[in-house]
Amino acid sequence: MKLWGGRFQKETDNLVNELNASIGFDQRLYREDITGSMAHAAMLADCGIISRADADAIINGLQGILEDAEAGKIEFTADNEDIHMNVEALLTARIGDAGKRLHTARSRNDQVALDFRMYVREQIPVITGQLLELETVLCRQARQYQTAVMPGYTHLQRAQPISFAQHLMAYAAMFRRDVTRLEDCAARLNECPLGSGALAGTTYPIDRWQTARELGFDAPMGNSLDGVSDRDYALELMSALSILMMHLSRFAEEVILWCSWEFKFIELDDAYATGSSIMPQKKNPDVAELVRGKTGRVYGDLMSLLTVMKGLPLAYNKDMQEDKEPVFDAIDTVEMCVPVFAAMIDTMKVLPENMRKAAGRGFINATDCADYLTKKGMPFRDAYTVTGRLVAACAAQGKTLEDLTLDELKAVSGLFEQDVYDALNLENCMALRKSYGGPAVAETARQIEAIEAFVQQIKDKG
Ligand code: ARG
Repeated sequence: MKLWGGRFQKETDNLVNELNASIGFDQRLYREDITGSMAHAAMLADCGIISRADADAIINGLQGILEDAEAGKIEFTADNEDIHMNVEALLTARIGDAGKRLHTARSRNDQVALDFRMYVREQIPVITGQLLELETVLCRQARQYQTAVMPGYTHLQRAQPISFAQHLMAYAAMFRRDVTRLEDCAARLNECPLGSGALAGTTYPIDRWQTARELGFDAPMGNSLDGVSDRDYALELMSALSILMMHLSRFAEEVILWCSWEFKFIELDDAYATGSSIMPQKKNPDVAELVRGKTGRVYGDLMSLLTVMKGLPLAYNKDMQEDKEPVFDAIDTVEMCVPVFAAMIDTMKVLPENMRKAAGRGFINATDCADYLTKKGMPFRDAYTVTGRLVAACAAQGKTLEDLTLDELKAVSGLFEQDVYDALNLENCMALRKSYGGPAVAETARQIEAIEAFVQQIKDKG
């Protein structure tokens, strides 16, 4: 017989039970559910709503269920629909009538809102920790390649000289913002919905501040309808995770390009690559491809919950049971992707000589050539045109700008002197880009130090 058996004259249809049950996925919340119930029971006793003896029996009973669940000794059952009713039924089976008093002044609506919020709150530091490891890997790799010249690209066309270190640190800057986005989310979600009841609070003299404090929240949520109705914290988490996956996916795309024969800027470690069942020569970047591919499912998870929520009238609606699977999936996906991606970057072999070779072709010093003339007094727009003509001439003859003789250069502008060859030297072109955030060694060193300090600061806080 169902919990609500009092009101009903028929058993629920089996198909309805199947549709209705969420225990298959929400059993993951057993720890939060039990912790929340313990705090609730203690508060009920402190406020004189249940007896101390009942509260003690409830708390001890819940402690026993928690230990058995941790030990894998409990089989949750679809007969009890969800994790909340499973725990309550187990408790009542173990301790009798006291167990039936636990749900006083509470609803599954505020209960699930609490459990889910706590679950999201616990997962954020896990992901942040993984991102900090990735940052550490990026800093370590970047330190080794601060003078390694590579072509920087726009439109995937060779554009201007950068260092491999600067390229890596661009991603480090993105992941740093991902960490702060997650921290913002954690700070905003830390209000406690417990005590919102079904929607309209309760007539019992509960102390919402006590349970909020006990469960590590900054305060109880200020409106009981809001407390049971919104899932914005889950959406905020999945938005942050979608952006993080977008960053990882772009990086993955570059790793895929870089280890192709067309680039050969890196070679992946054997442990982080795969072979082909037919082509003996293949070494495939499956890790990077899967990270790129899994980005789609995290976006899908976000869209799925946004869509579930968009038409719901206040307060709780059963549609909201559909909030959990996308969030679990997004969290699981990210927690699987970030460490393996970090390990792949950590173990990859960098081939700076191939980067330097690629930098030598494609006229990535053309801007520097125009700048050279500009610094000698020619207006930049004219210098741009003169350099463009030189590039066209070189391209036709299969030459680089620095292959041209001083006489050939002087033929287009009398401003060219012997020192133009220093200005065109790629190492100089990179080293002289000392503007804040640029690829000059001192600048990338500053960026690396800033990320290292950030990692340390977050670790010290945790
Ligand atoms: N399993 C439900 C969920 O995940 C718990 C809340 C049920 N509330 C209700 N009024 N049916 O949303």
